[in-house]
Amino acid sequence: MKTRIKNGTVVTASDTFTADVLIENSKIAALIAPGHIMSSADIREIDATGKYIIPGGIDAHTHLDMPFGGTNSIDDFESGTVAAAHGGTTTIIDFAIQKKGGTLREALDTWHQKAEGKAAIDYGFHMIATDVPPAQLDEMADIVREGVTSFKLFMAYPGVLLLDDQSIFRAMLRAGEIGALICMHAETGLPIDVLVQRAIAAGHTAPIYHALTRPEVAEATGTERAIALAEMAKVPVYIVHLSAQRALERVMEARDRGLPAYAETCPQYLFLSEDDLRGTPDDEFEGAKYVCTPPLRPAHHHEHLWRGLRNYDLQVVSTDHCPFCMKGQKELGRGDFSKIPNGMPGVETRLHLLWEGVREGKISMNRFVEITATAPAKIFGLYPRKGTIAVGADADLLVWDGEKRHVLSERTLHMRVDYSPFEGKEVVGAPTHVLSRGKVVVENGQYLGKKGDGRFVRRGTFALG
Ligand code: URP
Ligand code: ZN
Ligand code: ZN
Repeated sequence: MKTRIKNGTVVTASDTFTADVLIENSKIAALIAPGHIMSSADIREIDATGKYIIPGGIDAHTHLDMPFGGTNSIDDFESGTVAAAHGGTTTIIDFAIQKKGGTLREALDTWHQKAEGKAAIDYGFHMIATDVPPAQLDEMADIVREGVTSFKLFMAYPGVLLLDDQSIFRAMLRAGEIGALICMHAETGLPIDVLVQRAIAAGHTAPIYHALTRPEVAEATGTERAIALAEMAKVPVYIVHLSAQRALERVMEARDRGLPAYAETCPQYLFLSEDDLRGTPDDEFEGAKYVCTPPLRPAHHHEHLWRGLRNYDLQVVSTDHCPFCMKGQKELGRGDFSKIPNGMPGVETRLHLLWEGVREGKISMNRFVEITATAPAKIFGLYPRKGTIAVGADADLLVWDGEKRHVLSERTLHMRVDYSPFEGKEVVGAPTHVLSRGKVVVENGQYLGKKGDGRFVRRGTFALG
């Protein structure tokens, strides 16, 4: 059975043109002139009149079913990927996490078990390395051969995830040898911990202190150090969840010097601010909904991040989807902000929110496609199979209605979490059809896929693009 998406405007990272998209056997088979008559009768047609046909979103940063902060992120591979599909994301790259003292192999096996038979859309993995003695450095090559070609390292969370500079540097050198990419959580974590302890001792326990104890400068120095270590190791580096102007400036300086430094930001850093962490006049603990790391920053950072996206200083917008319910999870930190599980939901709302940037002229439609699909596909070894509209690519496609209005609410979103950080916000733009390898998995808000439709994607090694 073939599918023809008719009468739409195709938008890729580089071009905008009128064409019908023909899909056969889960791949894009042809781009056809509109009106061209085809002889075969066995064609399903999807009418995209007045709409755009764009690549399915790739979210390169999710945490599904992850043990963290004394609990587990509440979306598993079923609920998280169904929610992603509703929002127009057709591939995620989730973080497998090495247990302290455990092996990378165990972590990868565990993540395969979590995802297999559950995911609604395709998925890949990064590996979070929390411990890299020589044996683990050797194991990195096995993991890369299995299509997990990026490793996240942490400069924050002492005693839990933080790696010292020597370990980071060794892992970077190894990554360079095997074609892997290092993704860095770049915050200088040890002094942050001192600030946190002092705040708690002074009785400053409300969620806002999460932001006040993790200043912008800690992220800027972390970013600078990550880039310096990568420069010494002569390897590329990708800074995850960049939130602040001064951290961005460190990336810009590196890129101006020609270094292969890349960075992503997330919608929460473009649309929310430190003020949200103050909660409501009645309940300061409402601010716990917005506790993520790095923290939300004062609103003046937004324009710098949008400019970074427009000017190619930031390459990707992913979500860092790491959802915890208020009830029973965020509540763990009532009376001590440092015990609030860090993370926010977002896998479903990324494209809706970023389309506002297109409507307001902050980014072009082509740049929207690039930062949500094409650039993550290229950086993380999925391109050209995913992330673009081209003959031979997977038919991961959206029919995107750029005028569709709806109001974001926890009641209508599909993530399992019991709140939305964007409750009541009206957004414009939504997919009417979401196709994953040619199969329509969401049509006008109805989920038509099934558990286990998604497949593990082996990613290629890093190549400078
Ligand atoms: O708050 C966050 N970002 N939670 C997820 C873990 C991480 O650092 O990405
Ligand atoms: Zn992180
Ligand atoms: Zn994360």
